[in-house]
Amino acid sequence: MNNKTILITGATSGLGLEAAKQLAKQGHEIILLCRNKEKGEQAVSEIKNFSGNNKLHLYTANLSSQKSIEAAATQIKKDFLKLDVLVNNAGAVFNNFQLSDDGIEMTMANNHFNYFWVTYYLFDLLKNAHAARIVNVASDSHYSAKKIDVDTFYQKKGSYFVLSAYEQSKLTNVLFTYALAEKAKPYNITVNALHPGFVYTPIGEKNGNKFFGLVWSLASKLFGLTVEKGASSHIYLASSNAVDGISGNYFHRCKSKKSSAISYDKNLQDLLWKESERKSGFQFL
Ligand SMILES: NC(=O)c1ccc[n+]([C@@H]2O[C@H](COP(=O)([O-])OP(=O)(O)OC[C@H]3O[C@@H](n4cnc5c(N)ncnc54)[C@H](OP(=O)(O)O)[C@@H]3O)[C@@H](O)[C@H]2O)c1
Repeated sequence: MNNKTILITGATSGLGLEAAKQLAKQGHEIILLCRNKEKGEQAVSEIKNFSGNNKLHLYTANLSSQKSIEAAATQIKKDFLKLDVLVNNAGAVFNNFQLSDDGIEMTMANNHFNYFWVTYYLFDLLKNAHAARIVNVASDSHYSAKKIDVDTFYQKKGSYFVLSAYEQSKLTNVLFTYALAEKAKPYNITVNALHPGFVYTPIGEKNGNKFFGLVWSLASKLFGLTVEKGASSHIYLASSNAVDGISGNYFHRCKSKKSSAISYDKNLQDLLWKESERKSGFQFL
């Protein structure tokens, strides 16, 4: 792949930062979409020092907020003519039930609506590229989600459990990937999802529960992969010629594998798509 313009969400930390460093080292132009300006500036300087690449651009948005994403995307569309690769990577876990500015449970807002909105608002730029790619960071934890319960997107039903909410949100990443892969075909845009593995990053330390944070930190430090290994599929799907034209697949360790049985359910993909459009107030493809 020749040098491309690649946008990575959540590039201030963990897998997104590592992917940005490696892709910058390959010579690509990198757009970082991050929530915190200072952290973003630190990431830019780390990526620059690591890669020697100066083609780095920082934009900020709260990716759990539709308005905030729309505003950042509007600016990016003024500054760039095309986008070759979009890596939807930013994600989070939430220990307690909380609603976003848009009235969406935070795990769903951060991990699903985030991807849906970033992709929608930047889709014109992707269409302008010759053969753009979308890479959605999901997780093998989606195998544990046995259904999509739309009510839980907006309200607490019974007791809220952090892992169930996360698993459902990661199933939505895979459902969204397969639905979008079909819809994006006429535009020559490929869409794939990936599981990075169990990776040592601070994701489990950010949800406000010190005990959970400590358990996550110890377990992922002892048993997790390094970010260098974890980000390998991000880099492969964003930049390798080997995946030219490959779409609608789920990758782990740079190899395609089967996702859960219900992730292939077209009715469920359609239900998620329609609900995402309804809540967002727009039609997307
Ligand atoms: N680590 C694992 O074992 C693992 C396994 C499977 C899948 N994943 C997935 O990998 C992706 C990256 O996670 P990670 O482990 O690298 O975690 P991480 O180190 O916490 O990185 C997450 C990134 O997302 C950003 N982010 C979160 N919420 C945001 C928001 N509302 N607005 C803007 N940016 C936001 C974070 O920004 P801040 O730096 O400001 O917090 C950070 O840059 C996630 O989608 C996660 O679900 C991770």
